Amino acid sequence: MKWLLKTGFCLFIAVCVRSEICRTSKDEEGECLPINKCPGIYVKQADKQISDDDLKKLECGSTYAGPKVCCTLPEQKVCRLPTGLLGECKPLYACKPVIIALGLDKIESEFVQRLSCGGTDIRPEVCCGELFNNTEPERYAIAPRSLCGLQHYDDYFHTDNDTAITEFPWVARIAYRRSPESYVEFLCSGSIISTKYVLTAAQCLNDDLEPLFARLGEYHSLNETDCAYYPDISADECTDFKDLKVEKYIRHPGYDNKTGVHDIGIIKLNESIKYTDYIRPVCLLSSKIPRPKVTDQLAISSWGWTRQIYNIFIRTKFRQKTRVRLTTADECRQHNITLQENQACTIYTNTKTCLYENGGPVVYSYKHQWFQEGIALSGMKNCVGLSAPLLYTNVSMYVNWINETIFSN
Ligand SMILES: *[C@@H]1O[C@H](CO)[C@@H](O)[C@H](O)[C@H]1NC(C)=O
Ligand SMILES: *[C@@H]1O[C@H](CO)[C@@H](O)[C@H](O)[C@H]1NC(C)=O
Ligand SMILES: *[C@@H]1O[C@H](CO)[C@@H](O)[C@H](O)[C@H]1NC(C)=O
Ligand SMILES: *[C@@H]1O[C@H](CO)[C@@H](O)[C@H](O)[C@H]1NC(C)=O
Ligand SMILES: *[C@@H]1O[C@H](CO)[C@@H](O)[C@H](O)[C@H]1NC(C)=O
Ligand SMILES: *[C@@H]1O[C@H](CO)[C@@H](O)[C@H](O)[C@H]1NC(C)=O
Ligand SMILES: *[C@@H]1O[C@H](CO)[C@@H](O)[C@H](O)[C@H]1NC(C)=O
Ligand SMILES: *[C@@H]1O[C@H](CO)[C@@H](O)[C@H](O)[C@H]1NC(C)=O
Repeated sequence: MKWLLKTGFCLFIAVCVRSEICRTSKDEEGECLPINKCPGIYVKQADKQISDDDLKKLECGSTYAGPKVCCTLPEQKVCRLPTGLLGECKPLYACKPVIIALGLDKIESEFVQRLSCGGTDIRPEVCCGELFNNTEPERYAIAPRSLCGLQHYDDYFHTDNDTAITEFPWVARIAYRRSPESYVEFLCSGSIISTKYVLTAAQCLNDDLEPLFARLGEYHSLNETDCAYYPDISADECTDFKDLKVEKYIRHPGYDNKTGVHDIGIIKLNESIKYTDYIRPVCLLSSKIPRPKVTDQLAISSWGWTRQIYNIFIRTKFRQKTRVRLTTADECRQHNITLQENQACTIYTNTKTCLYENGGPVVYSYKHQWFQEGIALSGMKNCVGLSAPLLYTNVSMYVNWINETIFSN
């Protein structure tokens, strides 16, 4: 009904009609629309008649509310609403919004005639819009469950220590320049949590050394386009990184750079991220997801450091992953580290790969979706061979702050 009122209103505003032509993998012409505006596909998805893989193939963009799909016009039952959007052609009696609106005298029968798309006089068919009750706001702060924490890698590829190109697509590298003449250095990481925001540690957001841009979708740090050949699936996977400027950054107001308490912050990017297989958001925890317990394994992924002669450390070229084991504050105390409020202690389980890096996501997978448990906080690079600790900021303590900060910035 809301839709009908909006439609009526839109009839007078040309701006409401906007289309973006796309091509499907079968090279058919379609229109790139939010999935809920593409009845054919939306219905199939709701009825689970289309696999997630096939759905991914139709993806042509995203909005705050979900993916956009390449919606093909020739599909028989698809029709155009007076707004220019697509609807589904169906018998009038089956079009709930029109029936309700007619019953409440909200629309004229003349308007219904304009929706006519076939049928007979006795059994007229109308172009029926909005197949579900869309009460979600356009502006989605935190990536919704339907989009976050998914990695193409999980679809087919499983080895333990190697990183795949499509693994951890939410990892962002944060770039700095110590002086205008110096080169760019990636001193921190962060995680994509929505189309415009990257979560990181507050210590990475210094007014003295400001973050410049976030590099998304990077795998091999020296190559513009990274490709890896996977014999398991006889296919190449390629990724182009994307740099987006830091528009602004926000440290947690309680952050204290001496004690390190509330070490969490948010970066707002200058434009919306277009999600791909290589650039996607991670999920933040909700109360419905089981939390990791002491002794559980968590994953981190970053460009590690390798020690060269004279104690010089250089970054690894490929993104790596490793695991840490959640442990008690006591175990960290044995390493002479005292936890601050809302911090947790972990220990590297694979002593060959230690990826000390601040701001990066500490994640775990639950039912094939990845959730961010923490923000890595670390210092020393020479952790190889040691059962070194890694602290993290407990993100679930800050979900409300994150949400509010995003909404008000
Ligand atoms: C849409 O949702 C609202 C709020 O949840 C509800 O009040 C309304 O009845 C729903 N409308 C339809 C047509 O289902
Ligand atoms: C992964 O690394 C660990 C620690 O180095 C090793 O024990 C394990 O065998 C490796 N697994 C594979 C599949 O290579
Ligand atoms: C990176 O580039 C080098 C040479 O330019 C090439 O040999 C290597 O295969 C590339 N690596 C990836 C992951 O694309
Ligand atoms: C955002 O930043 C990137 C990298 O600096 C730049 O290429 C792009 O044009 C910027 N977008 C807008 C809308 O300013
Ligand atoms: C810590 O914060 C204070 C006050 O905001 C600032 O003056 C100081 O430079 C900061 N120190 C470091 C190491 O960033
Ligand atoms: C912790 O500190 C004590 C006292 O300074 C020192 O003796 C001990 O070696 C330290 N332990 C570690 C693991 O660094
Ligand atoms: C993180 O915070 C949540 C509460 O939001 C708490 O239940 C959980 O135990 C904390 N995790 C750790 C490892 O302390
Ligand atoms: C985020 O904040 C908005 C606006 O304050 C609120 O409507 C929404 O429910 C919040 N979401 C979460 C996950 O807290």
